[in-house]
Amino acid sequence: MTDFARERMTQLLAEIRAADIAYHVHDNPIIGDSQYDALFAELKALEAEHPEWVEPSSPTQRVGAKPVGGFQEVRHQVPMLSLDNVFSVEEFRAFVQRVQERLGSVKQLQWTAEPKLDGLALSIRYVRGQLIQAATRGDGETGEDVTANVRTIASVPLRLAGYAWPEHLEVRGEVIMKRVHFDQMNADLAQRGEKTFVNPRNAAAGSLRQLDPALVATRPLSFYAYGVGALSAPLGESHDAVMQALKACGIPVNPGRIVGDAAAMEAAYVDLLHQRAELPYEIDGLVVKVNALSHQDTLGFVQRAPRFATAWKFPAQEARTRLLAVEFQVGRTGAITPVARLEPVFVGGVTVSNATLHNFDEIARLDCRPGDAVIVRRAGDVIPQLVRVLTELRQTELPRIERPRCCPVCQSPVEQAEGEAVLRCSGGLVCRAQRLEHFKHFVSRRAMDIEGLGEKLLASLIDAEVITTPADLYRLKAAQLQALDRMGPKSAANVIDAIEASRDTTLARFIYALGIRDVGEATAAALATHFGSLEAMSTAETDALLAVPDVGPVVASHVSSFFASAQNRAVIEALRTLGVRWPDPPQHVVDALPLSGQTWVLTGTLETMTRDAAGDRLRELGAKVSGAVSAKTSCVVAGPGAGSKLDKAVSLGITVWDEGQLIQLLEAL
Ligand code: IVH
Repeated sequence: MTDFARERMTQLLAEIRAADIAYHVHDNPIIGDSQYDALFAELKALEAEHPEWVEPSSPTQRVGAKPVGGFQEVRHQVPMLSLDNVFSVEEFRAFVQRVQERLGSVKQLQWTAEPKLDGLALSIRYVRGQLIQAATRGDGETGEDVTANVRTIASVPLRLAGYAWPEHLEVRGEVIMKRVHFDQMNADLAQRGEKTFVNPRNAAAGSLRQLDPALVATRPLSFYAYGVGALSAPLGESHDAVMQALKACGIPVNPGRIVGDAAAMEAAYVDLLHQRAELPYEIDGLVVKVNALSHQDTLGFVQRAPRFATAWKFPAQEARTRLLAVEFQVGRTGAITPVARLEPVFVGGVTVSNATLHNFDEIARLDCRPGDAVIVRRAGDVIPQLVRVLTELRQTELPRIERPRCCPVCQSPVEQAEGEAVLRCSGGLVCRAQRLEHFKHFVSRRAMDIEGLGEKLLASLIDAEVITTPADLYRLKAAQLQALDRMGPKSAANVIDAIEASRDTTLARFIYALGIRDVGEATAAALATHFGSLEAMSTAETDALLAVPDVGPVVASHVSSFFASAQNRAVIEALRTLGVRWPDPPQHVVDALPLSGQTWVLTGTLETMTRDAAGDRLRELGAKVSGAVSAKTSCVVAGPGAGSKLDKAVSLGITVWDEGQLIQLLEAL
């Protein structure tokens, strides 16, 4: 029995370590989360029965240490260097030229290109394959001992894989927090009323320097290696070979590639800059290194940085500027959004003069006041955000921003629903701002798709009271447009033609165009498919609405109250009388289809048919085909290469089929 237990523990350790490497190093999970959790729980139970067999490097032993009073100093055997920076292609070319001049005789130089991860540097010492010590960079000579904290980082192996490692191996790399984890953690902190972090780098640094390892364990940190420190034996002859060797030891490595010449490096820089916003973590440049270690040795170092590498920096994503004012914008549904007006500043590659403040609670949390020095942040194509106020630079008392009591546009009282952070104008379509947004939505491309009716034209038509409801658009005459906007006869005729053409639409577009709160395009399409007609939908009871995929109690109540309004019903009636129409619903009764009411998800590669074709067939049979797995999913069809969706399906206990089973069903129906 005990022999069996011991053998099982060894087997579990091997399986968990293999799963960890597949997940963290190769980005290619081999088992689902729930299977992993089951193996982990089994190991934990066996270790509890046999504490004498618990290995210090067991994955269950990541959080063991007690909180410490402070960190011990660690002297780095090999100093932790920094990188010189270049900021332009000219500076990059000058760097390449300097390297080539120093290596005079070398003709074909090979380079590596890697993202410059924006986190904090870490050195991890392994002795005979076991993690012994982890230290921060500090001043490069002496850092802080953060071993207990680093042991809690799931992607850092406590024991190296394989046997091909040198007896002493010091791995150097960056501790970071991925964007999703950062957003999730900040949302959790905010919900608990705790202080949030300004950016993922601060979150990573702040977390790693916590004194309580148990708390660090709750912080979702990741580690990627980009080099080595002290070694008892070489790992390879090039930087790339060293990285491959680290990977073989089970260490996650910063993804780099070999680049043949400096011109190709310029293309690599542009490529990475374009990928920047989509990467799972933040990067602030491209690190260029000479690949051959012999060349690196010849080049050597200047002061605290190597001559063989440089960081080609990207435009900064954060910048300091001044808050000029906070204005309140009123949206289509009356939501009042504060917008920060800023002194223009170049950040994230563009000039920014506005930033979002989300809601009034955010203003209170930041305590931003007109006149304050502030930090704005623009990461990728995300709307710029005001992330921090430099209150320490305030020279005089500045006036606080008051919560608006009435709508800045129509002066109607402002409302705030219980439990919601959003303030709303109660004016409805009386409010000019809401009316304008409502019209903008109605004519937008994915709604009624009326080209040429831009914001300015709509605003003047509203102000002149030519249009009050969307039905008025279908009564417009070219002469009215010409008179109002002083537009030429040709442009006026084009707008009228576009309005005319929009009369032929689909039920889904029409429902979307109505602008019912929280009814986006997907929900509108689901409502159209489910009910088949506007009459059925507008008279549906709550229970019937709740039967529609994607419709929950909140959306159901918005739909009901929209159709309860006599005014809304009158506008719809007028639109139909004016010729807005859509094809009749299909002749069959939607609910009678074999897969009606079911939601299917297709993931991975299908071999005998494309995913699109399979999706079309399922839809013909009445199923909804979704891109995401949820508790409402009826069945997931998984082909080779299926990843997180399959894992989620397994963890939610949802039926999983292979392609063969799907084909059998399609043939049978
Ligand atoms: S190599 C001897 N490679 O950037 C060269 N550093 O500004 C040492 N960093 O302290 C560094 N990504 O913390 C290197 N791919 C990468 C990197 C990288 C991020 C950080 C590292 C270093 C800092 C220098």
